[in-house]
Amino acid sequence: MRKSFRYFILFGIVVIPVSILLAFTVKLLPDDNLKGKYAYKDFETAKKCGSCHPGTYQQWTQAMMSQAYTHHWDEIEYFELAVAHADAKPELKGPVDGCNGCHAPLAFMGGTLPPPKPSEKSMANESVSCEVCHLIRSAQTDPPFNFSYLIEPGVKKYAVRKPAIESPAHKIETNEFYRTTEFCGNCHNEKNPFGVWVKSTQLEWKEGPYSKEGVRCQDCHMPKGGPYLNAIMTKPYDDARLHLFHGAHDPGKVRGTIELRIEPDIRETEPGENIVFTVALFNQKTGHKFPTGSVEDRIAWLNVEATDAKGKKYHLTVDRKGFEGEEYTISGDYLAYQDMGVPLKQPDFKGVQRDGIPHGNRIFRMPYFDPEGRMTIMQWNTAKLGVDYRIGPRETKVEKFTFKLPYDIAPGEMKVSVVMNYQLLVKPVADFLKVPADESEIKIVNEHTTSVKVLP
Ligand code: HEC
Ligand code: HEC
Ligand code: HEC
Ligand code: HEC
Ligand code: HEC
Repeated sequence: MRKSFRYFILFGIVVIPVSILLAFTVKLLPDDNLKGKYAYKDFETAKKCGSCHPGTYQQWTQAMMSQAYTHHWDEIEYFELAVAHADAKPELKGPVDGCNGCHAPLAFMGGTLPPPKPSEKSMANESVSCEVCHLIRSAQTDPPFNFSYLIEPGVKKYAVRKPAIESPAHKIETNEFYRTTEFCGNCHNEKNPFGVWVKSTQLEWKEGPYSKEGVRCQDCHMPKGGPYLNAIMTKPYDDARLHLFHGAHDPGKVRGTIELRIEPDIRETEPGENIVFTVALFNQKTGHKFPTGSVEDRIAWLNVEATDAKGKKYHLTVDRKGFEGEEYTISGDYLAYQDMGVPLKQPDFKGVQRDGIPHGNRIFRMPYFDPEGRMTIMQWNTAKLGVDYRIGPRETKVEKFTFKLPYDIAPGEMKVSVVMNYQLLVKPVADFLKVPADESEIKIVNEHTTSVKVLP
């Protein structure tokens, strides 16, 4: 009797308010407006648009937004982690349906959730298609986040340019919203069920130097070029907006994002002496932080190595700065990501290696923590963010590496190289979930070498 009474009290004090709170937070997101509001047949395929806009179509097929639903890692994370997690915790159903509000908007509006798997080739596979973008009129929230776009299917498409000729397939209405970063922010800012900003690319841009100069997402990801034919029956434009949308999956876009220089404090030294190397890292290319977006997955790190005159290599470890949370920015031997055990139905899951790179390297990241304070890659299960040690737009970070020269180091020229590496997804997680290797291959962002004379 007493026990059941205790449960009754527990139910009253904890369960009911928590459920009300959860229902409230989920409702705060503008998802229910669109969920199930339209049908697949209300939308046209990108292929159809491509019959008159072949160049734009081909560019889009090579960009990640055409694969936002079908790409291997998206499919694995959505079905094996997110959907499975919502099966175990029904209160996650709303937020997990919401993945599609950005990754498969036609499926979200079409209301089949979860959508058919990519292999079934449904309209969900259209991902972020021409229709999705060109039917958007505005944002419903300020700031925009969580698929806050206002959208309506129909023959009326929106664009910035007034067309030279009338299109036989649709009407065009000019809309200045397409020039704004809020347009992109509808999907490139995300708040999760804990109220945590798990994605804030547009907000980072707004805080940074580029917003003040009017350099927007479109200027770097949809550069103007020409002469280029937007549509087959019209004239070429010299300033056509190319739909390249190249980002973190394009090694060329990532390369050179950070400029690196390394210098020693002295040029001549002896075995047994300390020598201090200073590395300057200048973010000269991104309009937001680096990395941005899927920050929970990404890892960028410095590797510094000395090679003595006989070719023997020494790995240098970064000097600690002493800030709070620094342990998450220096690679080491830790297990993490234990919360994947819930969706994977492995209750005793011990986790996998946190970093999967040589120990003692500086990492540029912001850790995401699950409700139990462990690092997670499940952004929807993130209760807290840790120290933000990413590199802001036009920011320069400085790191030091103190090296005590071994007594047996070879005299002569010692070369010291710094490399900044980048992985889309931390390798131990990629390997554990069997994500194809391209998602965790090492991309070189930049490198630089200096030299020092070791006296005998
Ligand atoms: C039958 C051919 C045809 C089809 C199919 C077609 N378009 Fe067009 N579209 C045109 C023409 C022609 C223009 C005018 C181009 C110009 O003169 O600038 C145009 C202009 C546009 C513009 C404005 C760009 C500008 O140049 O001002 C957008 C955006 C656009 N189309 C999107 C779409 C989308 C999205 C689809 C698929 C749902 C689509 N189009 C299907 C022929 C077509
Ligand atoms: C309807 C939602 C939506 C809108 C609007 C949108 N995006 Fe995206 N974008 C996505 C999703 C989802 C992805 C992730 C694709 C994937 O799964 O890898 C993405 C990926 C990208 C990438 C590729 C990143 C990488 O990792 O390689 C770039 C670049 C990008 N978007 C730029 C933009 C820009 C610029 C705009 C505005 C002009 C914009 N997006 C508007 C949803 C959207
Ligand atoms: C000054 C140029 C510039 C501007 C402005 C800019 N970007 Fe980028 N963006 C880049 C570069 C360079 C990269 C590649 C390096 C990287 O992955 O961060 C990139 C990468 C990305 C990525 C992939 C990032 C990752 O780490 O996974 C996304 C998504 C993206 N941009 C979206 C946007 C959006 C949305 C805006 C506007 C709010 C924007 N960008 C503004 C230059 C820019
Ligand atoms: C992620 C959103 C997004 C997607 C996906 C997208 N567009 Fe666009 N598109 C834009 C934006 C934004 C502009 C206007 C940029 C500007 O002028 O500042 C634009 C401009 C255009 C233009 C006019 C270009 C110019 O130079 O005036 C055409 C044509 C067009 N899009 C067709 C398409 C077609 C066809 C597809 C699919 C194959 C497509 N778009 C997919 C966002 C998108
Ligand atoms: C508010 C829009 C939005 C929502 C909601 C959203 N995503 Fe994303 N997602 C994006 C954007 C934008 C990117 C690209 C960011 C980047 O490139 O860094 C992305 C990237 C990803 C990636 C990484 C893709 C890659 O190849 O690196 C995965 C996996 C992913 N999302 C899965 C999910 C899952 C699962 C959910 C639901 C729990 C979800 N997303 C909810 C917008 C969203």
